[in-house]
Amino acid sequence: MIRVENAVKLYGRAGANDAAVHALNGVSLRIAEGEFVAIMGPSGCGKSTLLHILGGLDTLTEGEAYLDHEPLHRLDEKGLTRLRRTKIGFVFQFFNLLPTLTVEENVRLPGLLQNLPASRLESRCAELLAAVGMEHRARHRLHQLSGGEMQRAALARALFMEPRVLLADEPTGNLDSEASAKVVNLFREIGERHRTTIVMVTHSRDVALAAHRLIEMRDGKITGK
Ligand SMILES: Nc1ncnc2c1ncn2[C@@H]1O[C@H](COP(=O)(O)OP(=O)(O)OP(=O)(O)O)[C@@H](O)[C@H]1O
Ligand SMILES: [Mg+2]
Repeated sequence: MIRVENAVKLYGRAGANDAAVHALNGVSLRIAEGEFVAIMGPSGCGKSTLLHILGGLDTLTEGEAYLDHEPLHRLDEKGLTRLRRTKIGFVFQFFNLLPTLTVEENVRLPGLLQNLPASRLESRCAELLAAVGMEHRARHRLHQLSGGEMQRAALARALFMEPRVLLADEPTGNLDSEASAKVVNLFREIGERHRTTIVMVTHSRDVALAAHRLIEMRDGKITGK
């Protein structure tokens, strides 16, 4: 499902100043369909950069990256936007939900962007809120939710378009261990049920244990997998 070959991401201009950073420095990896992979490594080692590349939110300086056979390094902005909206679900540490909307309005948003009919928006939303155990919170606004509930709402939203790939950047970073376990078990369950490929960055060994495989990074490189 995912193939990366010799990926290099340079921020700033090489030689022009001291600020040039090799965020990725020759990363190669393969992730199979339905696999649940955790990525760990020290702060600044390139984990988020790798997720952003895989999610079409940023582009490589050198190398190749394929997602579901699509060459990310050759797609233009339009192609990347289409890919993001149809094949990829994102979950971030700080949720990225819109605070003025209700839970169900947030969850439906990806479908609204794809102009799905209202009946489909409603049925899919109900199905997902049930899947993450949030039916009783559908009409709540975000400030009325706990951290774990917000994260489950974010997961429901990420899954709305049935993405082939779910990318999660420290999805349990703001949760206590009990809420973390709930969220990560939900990832695993959903991945197994729908053969969704999941790539999750985490700083927690306990959370990483729920994945099928652990990839370790350091200084823009993969050091163990
Ligand atoms: N837009 C940017 N411009 C310049 N440098 C950047 C940019 N984004 C990231 N970097 C640098 O690239 C390196 C990798 O950053 P990245 O965000 O991928 O790290 P990370 O492994 O996700 O760290 P953390 O665990 O702290 O989230 C860091 O040194 C960072 O300062
Ligand atoms: Mg990061």
